[in-house]
Amino acid sequence: AGAKKSSYEIVTLTTWLLNQERDGVIDNEMTIVLASISTACKQIAALVLRAPISNLTGVQGAVNVQGEDQKKLDVVSNEVFSNCLKSSGRTGVIASEEEDVPVAVEQSYSGNYIVVFDPLDGSSNIDAAVSTGSIFGIYAPNDECIPDVDDNGNRCIVSVCQPGSNLLAAGYCMYSSSVIFVLTVGTGVYVFTLDPMYGEFVLTQEKVQIPKSGKIYAFNEGNYALWDDKLKKYMDSLKEPGDSGKPYSARYIGSLVGDFHRTLLYGGIYGYPRDKKSKNGKLRLLYECAPMSFIVEQAGGKGSDGSQRILDITPTEVHQRVPLYIGSVEEVEKVEKFLA
Ligand code: AHG
Ligand code: MN
Ligand code: MN
Ligand code: MN
Repeated sequence: AGAKKSSYEIVTLTTWLLNQERDGVIDNEMTIVLASISTACKQIAALVLRAPISNLTGVQGAVNVQGEDQKKLDVVSNEVFSNCLKSSGRTGVIASEEEDVPVAVEQSYSGNYIVVFDPLDGSSNIDAAVSTGSIFGIYAPNDECIPDVDDNGNRCIVSVCQPGSNLLAAGYCMYSSSVIFVLTVGTGVYVFTLDPMYGEFVLTQEKVQIPKSGKIYAFNEGNYALWDDKLKKYMDSLKEPGDSGKPYSARYIGSLVGDFHRTLLYGGIYGYPRDKKSKNGKLRLLYECAPMSFIVEQAGGKGSDGSQRILDITPTEVHQRVPLYIGSVEEVEKVEKFLA
């Protein structure tokens, strides 16, 4: 009799990427870029785990281009991501929440891919050891050029301002009770869990489908007074027991990655609306809303700014903010109806 097959076959992220390359779904450059991103995420996971021990909690003492007080780990995570991408030798341009402008990768041989990322999402949670994450998206270069502001304008840096519908890959890593790496390359959503025993991401769910509806909502209701009336009516409607006899449940942890991952698996809706203070909401289109919307659509869900598909919006500037309603199709369509 042949060798007994193990009770379960372990597929690591590395194996999974090589299989996608073998099947022609991604090319070798993409394989290397995604592998370098997963390495950055493993390094950040280790830094997050020991932050209070290695004096990596608290603020850096600087303000980023968003006007936010940078946490020490915002800065360190950004360096980890940038270094991993640069040393992969396959990245052309990177755009980060923590970089004022996109950075052309100066390597003897750099690739063409454009990588956009939020190196540490939900970073206000770090000091309390509540879930955080990293979010990324990968574009092919386009021919549109903007002069690189670092030089005297004579060097061309490809524009990173592409609509999310151009994304070739998107994903996130959640630093939580487990370290979870979620990835799509356009053929469904795959979930990997870091096995700390040997430091590999192991495939734990494939072709995830978000429930069509879900009675969990994640909004910061502290902003209720600043919302427009149509949104207030929507929010009030979630609290009526309705014919099911049960109202919705509120779950909000202040980290898009954590709130999104729960929504992806359990169903429901995450929303960050515009309000009287923040005219376009808080979340950034390029490296938060678009990658998450690509992922949710690959899982059969919906990502909207309240009236249009997030993936159809072309950014006009790198750190542009948009309102975000994302999750189960029926839940996003429900809020869109109230807002119409
Ligand atoms: P970041 O930490 O990358 O700046 O993102 C924080 C975002 C998002 O992760 C989270 O859902 C939201 O900000 C929380 O905002 P409020 O604290 O205003 O609710
Ligand atoms: Mn931030
Ligand atoms: Mn973020
Ligand atoms: Mn961030």
